[in-house]
Amino acid sequence: MPTIESVLNETRIFSPSGIFAQKANIPDMQTYQALCSEAELDYQNFWAKQAKEQIVWHKPFAKILDDRTPPFYQWFDDGVLNISYNCLDRHLATQADKIAIIFESDNGEVIQATYRDLHQRVCQLANALKSRNIKKGDRVIIYMPMRIEAVVAMQACARIGAIHSVVFGGFSARSLHERITDAGAIAVITADEQLRGGKHNPLKATVDEAMAMGDTASVKLVVVYKRSGAAISFDPTRDVWWHEITQNASAHCEPEWVNAEHPLFTLYTSGSTGKPKGVQHSSAGYLLGAKVSMQWVFDYKPTDIFWCTADVGWITGHSYVAYGPLAVGATQVIFEGIPTYPHAGRFWEIIEKHRVTTFYTAPTAIRSLIKQGADLPAQYDLSSLRLLGSVGEPINPEAWIWFYEKVGQSRCPIVDTWWQTETGCHMIAPMPGAVALKPGSCTFPLPGIFAAIVDEAGHEVENGKGGFLVIKKPFPSQIRTLWGDPERFQKTYFPEEMGSGKYYLAGDSAYRDTDGYFWIMGRIDDVLNVSGHRLGTMEIESALVAHPLVAEAAVVGKPHEIKGEAVIAFVVLKGQYPQGEEVVQITETLRDWVTKEIGPIARPEEIRFGENLPKTRSGKIMRRLLRALAKGEEITQDISTLENPAILEQLKHPSK
Ligand code: PRX
Repeated sequence: MPTIESVLNETRIFSPSGIFAQKANIPDMQTYQALCSEAELDYQNFWAKQAKEQIVWHKPFAKILDDRTPPFYQWFDDGVLNISYNCLDRHLATQADKIAIIFESDNGEVIQATYRDLHQRVCQLANALKSRNIKKGDRVIIYMPMRIEAVVAMQACARIGAIHSVVFGGFSARSLHERITDAGAIAVITADEQLRGGKHNPLKATVDEAMAMGDTASVKLVVVYKRSGAAISFDPTRDVWWHEITQNASAHCEPEWVNAEHPLFTLYTSGSTGKPKGVQHSSAGYLLGAKVSMQWVFDYKPTDIFWCTADVGWITGHSYVAYGPLAVGATQVIFEGIPTYPHAGRFWEIIEKHRVTTFYTAPTAIRSLIKQGADLPAQYDLSSLRLLGSVGEPINPEAWIWFYEKVGQSRCPIVDTWWQTETGCHMIAPMPGAVALKPGSCTFPLPGIFAAIVDEAGHEVENGKGGFLVIKKPFPSQIRTLWGDPERFQKTYFPEEMGSGKYYLAGDSAYRDTDGYFWIMGRIDDVLNVSGHRLGTMEIESALVAHPLVAEAAVVGKPHEIKGEAVIAFVVLKGQYPQGEEVVQITETLRDWVTKEIGPIARPEEIRFGENLPKTRSGKIMRRLLRALAKGEEITQDISTLENPAILEQLKHPSK
């Protein structure tokens, strides 16, 4: 496999300290390996045992795995439960007054909510939604700022069996519209505005814009949380204020008991082709994954102050903000703002102020914080930290070492967690009390997760060789289907040539080193990873082509110091090839256009114009050539199939 090659040669090893290991939930390799062996012997019973221990069942399950129609697996299907009950009610008898959430707003105001408070607020919103006829199975779009209310909204949906679909607050009206219509949403929960880094983002106005785009008649209700008090337009036939509908609602709401396979949520993610995919998760299997990973990977202790910096608009904010921490009964920090406002030490200040013990963030944030002030952590008291975590993309070893030394003060293990929207929870990540760490490696699979590296035919490759990362056996937290598109689900994730259609294909390339450690190398499809979030090149291309000036567009990624990858677009205009001032003007127009169409995250870093794009004789765009051009590399690859070699010269340099 010549295209998948690793150049990384990292030899540093960091063993868990005796002090950490002594108290760890999984204190050594023997314990980890014993769990793995138990799962290898009988993975279905291994998971059944976990499900019995970890979940409060309203009616216990008798069936473990239904695998009669792969890849449409069902776990614990005849069991009945409620997810909100498992996250809130179950703690009321033992720790109702424990702080569940320490919320810090953009401007530094702090609000705390106990498990009792949270339960009450969730019940009130759940009752308010129910009284407006939102029922089990209805889809609810949540487009909210990163506040306690976002979690309340998600938990309230779970309580009544409504299927939520959270849309990241940075997404545009068009992206929101696409998700509302694909889900056939009945309700939208939003806020007047979002405040981040001192900036106001008009969420409600964006919802109005999306609603005006057509095909949104399914939406009967828009609930608006008053965040800033900004003036907004209000449609009395549809819009209601959150505070008004919850004010007199009862603080008791009997949970809707659902089947284990009842969809808890869908979350849209980019694919290589076509529109975003609505990844559909189950109830019990999903929660089980979120919960066991809190214990195994985050080594959860009741005294922890857990802080995952991800927004609830991404899967990380689902599993490690809205569900996992509550399922284990943790105290967690939720932060509304950004790491650099009002100063670059904000994250460290929050850790100091709230005595955070477990800090989980993304390599892109780490890189930007290094750039903004590599020595800043030393100005804060970070002695409360005991564990660090990383997610979203491979962490480059130098960033890893900085994180380890400057933030963790060479005391805290770093759990580099590989997983995806589709897997629901960590798949490959160290058990921090057991596994010696290598910077840049996500180490070993969780017990019960059968990860492997295979070639195109699905055969396992030897250690040291690159290949496709697959999970060979079903696991409880895995994606169940793509909303409304089971065929695409099967084709994308379970291709026939991999284990007779039974291996879950993650879409990443990876290899194992001679010690068996896993190293993730990147995506195998046309998907970029910008700031730890997936963006389909196809989506950005479609947005560009939708602009009246554009005839054709191809988008590729280019390594970027902070974002991991940056978006580079090659564009052919309908009119003349632009020159001089026109280049600057059209570039800005198109960059703003993409921002408006998809969101700021997709904004191209650079746009190059050409009279054509490099294509094969059959008309296929040769992206590998564009990738090389974007990186400024000389083209040494085979271009014999290229129809128009002269175009390479024109696209070689930024347009002037
Ligand atoms: O390419 C992998 C990368 O992020 C992809 C999943 O993206 P998403 O579904 O948006 O979820 C991100 C948060 C779980 C993966 O296919 N990725 C995620 N974590 C890591 C990673 N790459 C390397 N190391 C990781 N720890």
